[in-house]
Amino acid sequence: MSIILSLETSCDESAAALVSDEKGKIDLLANEIASQIDEHARWGGVVPEIASRRHLENLPFLIEEVFAKSKLKINDLDAVAATVTPGLSGSLLVGSITARTIASLYQIPFFGIHHLEGHLSSIYLSKNHPKPPFLVLLVSGGHTELIKVDEGHNYQRLGRSHDDAAGEAFDKVARLLGLSYPGGPAIQEIAKKGDPNRFLFPKGRVKKPGGGFYQYDFSFSGLKTSVFRQIEKLSSKNKNLPIEDIAASFENVVAEVLVERSLLCAQDQGLNSLVLVGGVAANERLRKMMLEKASKNSVKIALAPMEFCTDNAAMIGAAALLRLSSSSKYSSMELGVSARWPLEKADSLYDLNPPF
Ligand code: KG4
Ligand code: ZN
Repeated sequence: MSIILSLETSCDESAAALVSDEKGKIDLLANEIASQIDEHARWGGVVPEIASRRHLENLPFLIEEVFAKSKLKINDLDAVAATVTPGLSGSLLVGSITARTIASLYQIPFFGIHHLEGHLSSIYLSKNHPKPPFLVLLVSGGHTELIKVDEGHNYQRLGRSHDDAAGEAFDKVARLLGLSYPGGPAIQEIAKKGDPNRFLFPKGRVKKPGGGFYQYDFSFSGLKTSVFRQIEKLSSKNKNLPIEDIAASFENVVAEVLVERSLLCAQDQGLNSLVLVGGVAANERLRKMMLEKASKNSVKIALAPMEFCTDNAAMIGAAALLRLSSSSKYSSMELGVSARWPLEKADSLYDLNPPF
């Protein structure tokens, strides 16, 4: 059995977890999150400077808490892990330096984890998860990607957004509607009372230079502009804004686009398993629509457990356990952090000469 302490500080959630694995089964021993959302909500989005300072304040308490709850001691650890890319550099540094300090003091391996590999690994925290190869729809505040996952940490990006990420679109449209940050949960709540068919918003498509469209790619900026125009039009007529209907119509079209293109991609690639992860994967309309449409297409859907869709340290721990069990490599203590790094190059985080 291996026990790992994992830390997540890439954006606005400070998180720590203790995970273990036995015979390939991952156990979550303790999981703590300190959300900074309320503090950032005042500014309508994440303020990087505030985020780093709060991570610094929160992390020692979270670490103390996971050890207290699991009744484990720091000497029980086999390794320590932290998200090192992508994310806000200042925030990433707090988790990474904390993890490296523990690794060096207790002479245990350090695993720098790619945040997207963390999101993908959230599926392994569910009871009935598929085995690679499978297709992943990763939808979060910073990413909208279709990734083919093969055995041995092999990733191939088959689709992506050319502008805003799906979560970013939720956040921006929520702001247009005067709703709070983060936009996803706020829109989901108000959309429950709305008519999803009242407004016909566009399903952004990305043109290929030689003609035709990228079938598995996404574009959400036109959708956001279309919602903005609709709001302007209704406001100029001094009408009461039907924000429930706008929210429901917006949420519906985002869900339709994500479901249609993911299923098409899965079928074209001959993949009969489709996995849904990331903050937007917590969206109830999206989860329901995905399950309904997939049943007609004979694609099996695996949904990340709701509590592990948005940022958390349990998924980072799951990713680290899979790295630990699949190879003898771990990260150099010289590995720093990077605001961006492609998932396809996640293996390089375990090189003797680290890439950053
Ligand atoms: O994965 P995540 O916590 O952080 C990133 O790595 O980006 O995702 C956060 C994003 C935000 O944009 C938030 O509005 C969105 O996920 N989100 C949702 C829901 N819950 C969170 N979007 C739609 N419906 C939700 N229920
Ligand atoms: Zn995330």
